[in-house]
Amino acid sequence: MTEPASGRFRSRAARPIARDRFVHPDASLGLCVMGSPNDPTPSLTLVGGRVVEMDGREAEDFDVVDRFIATEALDLEVAAEAMAIPSLDLARMLVDIHVGREEIVRLFGGLTPAKLADVAGHLDVLEMMMALRKMRGRRTPGNQAHVTNWKENPVLLAADAAEAALRGFDEAETTVRVAPMAAMNAMALLVGSQAGRPGVLTQCAVEEGVNLRLGLKGLTSYAETLSVYGTAGAFRDGDDTPWSKGFLASAYASRGIKIRFTSGGGSEALMGHDEGKSMLYLEARCLLMVKGAGSQGVQNGSISCIALPMALPGGVRGVLAENLLACALGLECASGNDAMASHSEMRKAAKLMLQFLPGTDFVTSGQSVMPRRDNMFGGGNFDADDLDDWLVLQRDMQVDAGLVPVREVEVIEVRNRAARALQAVFAHLGLPLITDAEIEAAALAHSSDDMPDRDLVADLAASTALLNGPHGVADVILALDAGGFSGLAEHLLRLQRARVEGDTLQPSAVLDEEFRVLSAFTDPNDYRGPGTGYRPEGATWDRIADLPQAKQPSEMLSRSTDDTGFRLLDGRPALSSSDPSDVVVALGPAFGARLGRTIGELSHQDVLAALTRGIREEGLTPRLVRVRATADCGALGHEASRLAGSAIGIGLQSKGTAVIHRHGLAPLDNLELFSQAPALTVDSYAAIGRNAARHAKGEPPSPVPVRVDNMARLRLIVPTLLMHKAELAAVLPDAPPMEVAPDHG
Ligand code: 5AD
Ligand code: CA
Repeated sequence: MTEPASGRFRSRAARPIARDRFVHPDASLGLCVMGSPNDPTPSLTLVGGRVVEMDGREAEDFDVVDRFIATEALDLEVAAEAMAIPSLDLARMLVDIHVGREEIVRLFGGLTPAKLADVAGHLDVLEMMMALRKMRGRRTPGNQAHVTNWKENPVLLAADAAEAALRGFDEAETTVRVAPMAAMNAMALLVGSQAGRPGVLTQCAVEEGVNLRLGLKGLTSYAETLSVYGTAGAFRDGDDTPWSKGFLASAYASRGIKIRFTSGGGSEALMGHDEGKSMLYLEARCLLMVKGAGSQGVQNGSISCIALPMALPGGVRGVLAENLLACALGLECASGNDAMASHSEMRKAAKLMLQFLPGTDFVTSGQSVMPRRDNMFGGGNFDADDLDDWLVLQRDMQVDAGLVPVREVEVIEVRNRAARALQAVFAHLGLPLITDAEIEAAALAHSSDDMPDRDLVADLAASTALLNGPHGVADVILALDAGGFSGLAEHLLRLQRARVEGDTLQPSAVLDEEFRVLSAFTDPNDYRGPGTGYRPEGATWDRIADLPQAKQPSEMLSRSTDDTGFRLLDGRPALSSSDPSDVVVALGPAFGARLGRTIGELSHQDVLAALTRGIREEGLTPRLVRVRATADCGALGHEASRLAGSAIGIGLQSKGTAVIHRHGLAPLDNLELFSQAPALTVDSYAAIGRNAARHAKGEPPSPVPVRVDNMARLRLIVPTLLMHKAELAAVLPDAPPMEVAPDHG
């Protein structure tokens, strides 16, 4: 690319967004998010209770996906009724607060993939967000954490899992950098998570055979590794069918392990098997397969393929449509936002809002609690450094997106406890020992670089033995109990009880810290417009709003005279003078009294010294007066000029705002106004004094030097308000102005 000639284009070309890549759509290559010309027209023909034609294809021409959808997924009881409703009407039902979630889930169960895509095509993003708010399964929104590290250090994993749990994540997933670490990582995640907040569900995403064995051993409590694709060709490449996926899902479910499938736009195109169809149409097919396989839910929203729809027009809209269709089919939705979506923080945040604001079952399918380099899922879209931004956005919008503010001391405490618990388990089970130095490092680490190296070969061997040997979660529980962590042992035991009960197989199920199931059944989303549904209120809202960095107003007004030692004493009432060298400085009522510094932290003593020096340098005589009847800057200047023999006065508020006024001008029609007090230095005040004197002498003023700080207002607006309130509190409405002098006593 040639360097832009324009300076502004060159500047923009250096911005992060310039590194994102964009491509024009081409449906023949699968580069089409919604509404491909090759998408079929919705249709369904039933004969004798069987599907003989779907979306323009006769049953004898069905591919493996069509056949699975027709036999396992479509609710043929409602199909005729639902397919007869125009797509536009169905789209309107999605946003109509008078149509409840259950009615929509009932009807959508009878829609074909092409019909589902067609309905979504009638909605813009705002309408989809409204619909998503109503259609998510669980009333209380949630979030999922990614917990991994580059060194595969189990102590750090446990500590990070504990922190994730404390921060409010409902699920935490890990994976491996090297395959044999699966069992040890799963165990570290399990122990750590329960030390942070009992009831958090965990998984270790690895190859399906190992993944299932981890579940059978009780080392994990959910799985979301089952991928589906929207075309037969993509399935064939993966050596799978929808039936084989369904069978695997049943194997997990048989042991009480929550299962969630993975799908999302772009995967078929990337595999070269898109058949020229739109991503959303293919995703609708995936969602029906997820349903047909009996899974309670799905993570979608493009997931690992997100960069592809993001390169296309309407890509983010299409991804939101995927999330919405999942929910409209009654599926739990972990709504993506996990893989890197853009170089631009603005673009990432804007995209996030589409799920963050309506709330979903899991706003992200994995948000890293570590720095990016330690994320073994290929680097995350949001990581440890973004957590405070997330919390501020929740507070800004009074939205619960699954996380709560935490204090550093609590975090260090749970990280430490998790690491010590894992140390006990390792010791009891004869795994390579965890040292106290590792525990200390894990509690405070920024990344795995801060961890002492372990004997990786020994860890790999131990992890392999753990996977292949007889030990399971019962041994971990016994080890915790023997190691003095009986409370934690109890939490792990209750997690196993939840598996036996099977209630986490309910749609959208998570466990609270009492191991109560919150699901689409026990905590159903009842949003039906204003005044209904979940809103962060009461204690929940107080908690979200309670950022550690937020201060009490009283803590933000620190500019009192107590620490400056400079006070002005009132003398006699100030009278107007006829001395042509007299320049009056009229101070606000709290100046050098209740307040001792300007908003820019200059002491009132220094400010007055500079102002009076400036006036004297021009050969005139300053006179200090305190106005008590008003705190308004313009009025101070007006009063100063009225008293001044030279007819020139300076008004000066305690916060440092200054004005030069000439007697006879209207109160707000001043000679010079210095409204940006934080920009003024001692030199500025000297220059203001000189200029006032020059105005008095009829000489031209010179520019007053100011410091440019565009962020000052951001930083200082609250203290400014508080200072002005303090100044107003010192106002005595009918009191005359007084001459003042520094208290040298
Ligand atoms: N469709 C299907 N499976 C996906 N995965 C990620 N994105 C998709 C998608 N759009 C699966 C892949 C990947 C894991 C994180 O989830 O198997 O390795
Ligand atoms: Ca995930």
